[in-house]
Amino acid sequence: MQTGAGFFGSSIGKKIVMAITGILLVGFVTVHMIGNLQLYLPAHEGVYALDTYGEFLRTLLHGSGIWIARATLLTAAILHIWAAWGLTLMNRAARPVAYQNQAYVASTFASRWMRVSGVVVLIFIIVHLLHLTVGNLLPGFEQGKVFHNVVTGFQVPWVSAFYILAMVFFATHLHHGIWSMLQTLGLSHPRYNGLRHGLATLLTIVVIGGNISFPIAVLTGFVR
Ligand code: HEM
Repeated sequence: MQTGAGFFGSSIGKKIVMAITGILLVGFVTVHMIGNLQLYLPAHEGVYALDTYGEFLRTLLHGSGIWIARATLLTAAILHIWAAWGLTLMNRAARPVAYQNQAYVASTFASRWMRVSGVVVLIFIIVHLLHLTVGNLLPGFEQGKVFHNVVTGFQVPWVSAFYILAMVFFATHLHHGIWSMLQTLGLSHPRYNGLRHGLATLLTIVVIGGNISFPIAVLTGFVR
């Protein structure tokens, strides 16, 4: 069933919005994780690679680069949530009685879980920004001292536990999201199910594995 007018009112329009914004957001988390791998580089003449990298991002295009990136990410995140919300309402309107069929029950569970994990990821992002970007959730936060902030932050076991737990939720969201995105973008034939599953699993393991390694490296004293 299609409610609303035009392409963006249709379910395929919303799925395409989810897929395109999803690509952007997945791109960001992948690049963010790769950038953060500099946590593992030794300091050069007392300067940490992560701090130089943070400085580079803040001064890119005379300081406007980071704001362009922030505006793009925020717009993508808002559109992603808007489309998800719209699809939820459309699915509810189209399903006056509960499903009997097992396949439908499974797909309803997957989309419900995407909403739950999506909310967890949203809460994580807000806490994470207050923790490592704004710094008001991190005692001893120092503007521009990215290495110091990450290490001080993850030295608190429950903070590291929070990040790791959030990453477990994020892994399920990312995996199903990449899988659905590839379907929307055309890899929908059952013949490609293996490929879609493989790509989703690979990217999820790389991004989440990298992210989880940071708190573990600090907690174990490997990075200090
Ligand atoms: C353990 C994993 C992560 C670490 C160690 C980490 C580290 C950081 C640090 C240090 C900053 C501040 C950078 C600076 O001030 O120069 C930052 C910013 C940010 N992080 Fe993460 N991050 C992690 C995971 C994530 C994830 C999974 C997401 C998204 C789902 C995310 C989204 C962001 C965003 C949106 C910013 C703000 C960028 C800005 O506007 O300045 N981070 N992260």
